[in-house]
Amino acid sequence: MDIFDKLQQNRGPLGQYAKTLHGYFLFPKLEGGIGSRMQFRGKEKIVWSLNNYLGLANHPEVRRVDAEAAAQYGYASPMGARMMSGNTNFHEQLERELSEFVGKEDTFLLNYGYQGMTSAIDALVDRHDVIIYDAESHACIIDGVRMHMGQRYTFAHNDVDSLEKQLERAQAIVNPNKGGILVITEGVFGMGGDQGKLKEIVALKKKFDFRLMIDDAHGFGTMGATGAGTGELQGVQKDIDLYFSTFAKSMASIGAFISGEEQVIEYLKYNMRSQIFAKSLPLPLVIGDLKRLELLRTQGELRTKLWTIVDAMQAGLRERGFNLGRTNTPVTPIFLNGGDNEAANLIIDLRENFDIFCSAVVYPIVPRGVIMIRIIPTAAHTIEDVRITLDAFTHIAEKLHSKKYDYSINMAV
Ligand SMILES: Cc1ncc(COP(=O)(O)O)c(C=O)c1O
Repeated sequence: MDIFDKLQQNRGPLGQYAKTLHGYFLFPKLEGGIGSRMQFRGKEKIVWSLNNYLGLANHPEVRRVDAEAAAQYGYASPMGARMMSGNTNFHEQLERELSEFVGKEDTFLLNYGYQGMTSAIDALVDRHDVIIYDAESHACIIDGVRMHMGQRYTFAHNDVDSLEKQLERAQAIVNPNKGGILVITEGVFGMGGDQGKLKEIVALKKKFDFRLMIDDAHGFGTMGATGAGTGELQGVQKDIDLYFSTFAKSMASIGAFISGEEQVIEYLKYNMRSQIFAKSLPLPLVIGDLKRLELLRTQGELRTKLWTIVDAMQAGLRERGFNLGRTNTPVTPIFLNGGDNEAANLIIDLRENFDIFCSAVVYPIVPRGVIMIRIIPTAAHTIEDVRITLDAFTHIAEKLHSKKYDYSINMAV
């Protein structure tokens, strides 16, 4: 059968909705400067869908440095991969500053978080090694594990007993083969907002030999006394063997990094295919990241503001009886009961009649009959944004409860 014909018949889990939902639920266009209020289809909305945690995306200092660096160096510079012709003092400076900030010996910059994580996993293990990872890991971890030629096990989400059982299984395999064990989990789970149980996982190192890699995409900049992440908050930063984060969230940029022991980072520099066979991060991004990191480190008030908004939103929702699951981080899921149509009609109502832009997650990401609305409070929001949104949620919950959204979805909005 012709491959393209086959694609016509099976459009994929999301692609099947391309004709009906494109431009509204999928590929919507948010326009104007990144902030708490943006334009959607020509009208201002309060936006709760962006991981601009510290509000750095439109910080005047960030905008100035981004513009000056772009004017001075252009986005072409440097050309080539880091290893061959694309290295600069700025790249190395950012690596030094990140290492110092997250308390690790060395750091390697990565072009994207997704590619970086998959490639780091690929570089770290061989077929004798076993990977054990949390069942609700981000796609970049799952896809990295898919490249692994050896055994891989999941442990039930955030279940340390399940991890311990898998460590016992893994140990039995690696011992005769002279392999090792890599455990991978997240600092903050981006959907449910719960923290990885890093402290308990680290405690298992007393019983088992393994190395621990943490994806702290949502924890870097938001968690811990200095913003150095979930390991800092839980007091186990030094026991995380490889600390990874993207720049796509609190840093409001593009790129990522991985930090750890000097000799391990050197190994990654010389073995990570995503970095050896790809162009170096452009200088304006690297210089912009240096400025973002400086602000993230020195402007603690941005993190205080973030948490003021998070606390106001989460306390307000809980007081109104909403179920926020297990979040104890800025990621704010709201669990409601209803079907796919109700989810779609509720989101349309929020966007069109309450001028609030957020998105819903439905089956198969959450169980059938559950609607999860995911809200990301940021330092760019105001208490007034929170108040308006809490009022709106009170209304939509009442309408959902009295079955007012239970009709065929009307996309003529
Ligand atoms: C947990 C986690 N890891 C990795 C990534 C990928 O990072 P990037 O957008 O830099 O590819 C994301 C999303 O951006 C994420 O949420």
